[in-house]
Amino acid sequence: MKVKVIFVCLGNICRSPLAAAVFEEMVKKAGLENEFEIDSAGTSDYHIGESPDQRTLENAAKHGLVINNKGRQISRKDLINFDYIVAMDGANLKNIQKLDQTHQFATKMFLMRDFDSIEKKGDVPDPYFGGEEGFENVYNIVKRSMENFLKELIKIHNLPLAVKQ
Ligand code: 4NP
Repeated sequence: MKVKVIFVCLGNICRSPLAAAVFEEMVKKAGLENEFEIDSAGTSDYHIGESPDQRTLENAAKHGLVINNKGRQISRKDLINFDYIVAMDGANLKNIQKLDQTHQFATKMFLMRDFDSIEKKGDVPDPYFGGEEGFENVYNIVKRSMENFLKELIKIHNLPLAVKQ
């Protein structure tokens, strides 16, 4: 059975599509692409059907990543389907918790920075109203946090580590 991970922000056009692309690349490099299902969504309906923000695409390209994502809104179904729901900030997490009034999915919910080795528990700052540097900041936080996250998942799920040439 695949380990299912969904990244969640507000609009699903900046942070969460970039996080999904970074994590996907990391998983591929570890030879674990068949072990994971990776997705992203927004808590809002602002950008349903839209491609990621141009600055997200540019930052991804700068790091050798291609993103094919169309904005979508998270639903209760996603809480059932996914094993790990990783919110970018505290407001996103609160909005996801509102979809889970009986708290049955609480143990699946995380903040991205729960896994940050430098500064835990903070938010991944929303880069939407800022400049290019905000997107680079998101990339750096996500990269170092997801390295720790993937290590934990490899242990928890006893995932095979192929040695790649
Ligand atoms: P994201 O960024 O949540 O990282 O996708 C935002 C995208 C759009 C808006 C806010 C944040 N917005 O207000 O439309």
